[in-house]
Amino acid sequence: MKKQIAFIFDLDGVIVDTAKYHFLAWRNLANQLGFKFTEEHNELLKGVSRVKSLEILLSIGKVELSEEEKQKYLVQKNTEYLSFVNKMTTDEILPGVTDLLDYLDANKITYALGSASKNAPLILEKIGLYNRFTALVDGNDVSKAKPDPEVFLIGAKKLQMKPENCVVVEDAIAGVEAAKVANMYCVGIGDKEVLNKADIVFKDMTGFTKDFLENLIN
Ligand code: BG6
Ligand code: MG
Repeated sequence: MKKQIAFIFDLDGVIVDTAKYHFLAWRNLANQLGFKFTEEHNELLKGVSRVKSLEILLSIGKVELSEEEKQKYLVQKNTEYLSFVNKMTTDEILPGVTDLLDYLDANKITYALGSASKNAPLILEKIGLYNRFTALVDGNDVSKAKPDPEVFLIGAKKLQMKPENCVVVEDAIAGVEAAKVANMYCVGIGDKEVLNKADIVFKDMTGFTKDFLENLIN
């Protein structure tokens, strides 16, 4: 018998590779504040909220700022980030994503977005996927950031599914932790060693083969 399951997708690093745009904007801010910001540093910001990302960046540069300055730089960084987002098109959907969504639609499996990004609705519009999701939960809807499970629990509720019947797809350590705390099955996208708390890890979204999906629902 087929199991009733639903999917909840992270956005950045799962559906699109926006980390490169976050990196350019954060690096410019770091340079402006007088220190270097590397791609390794950028890894620390994956899955982390915008405000927390600034805190991490400032601790890397050992820079202290007033609340007012922090607000100013958050706006500046996001404005620059949005200049890249506004140029995004359907071409930026990562390999494997469209095939997976087509499979889920064909099998009447619903799916939601569960992202930390406040820019998630705009990004989905830009890449033409906004209307495909049954529910959207993003950085504007949560009071607690991943690894808190709030974002995924709201997603499950909106899909009217029990957490244990939800499959989360995540590329960040904090997101994998959130999914496991929520009692959901978690597919990690990235490095097996890094995402070692996930139930299974694929190096990218093409890992969702027909065999894997059939096993999951049967
Ligand atoms: C997450 C990204 O999805 O969203 C983080 O992995 C980012 O790197 C966070 O900081 C918040 O994004 P935004 O778009 O609200 O600044
Ligand atoms: Mg992510």
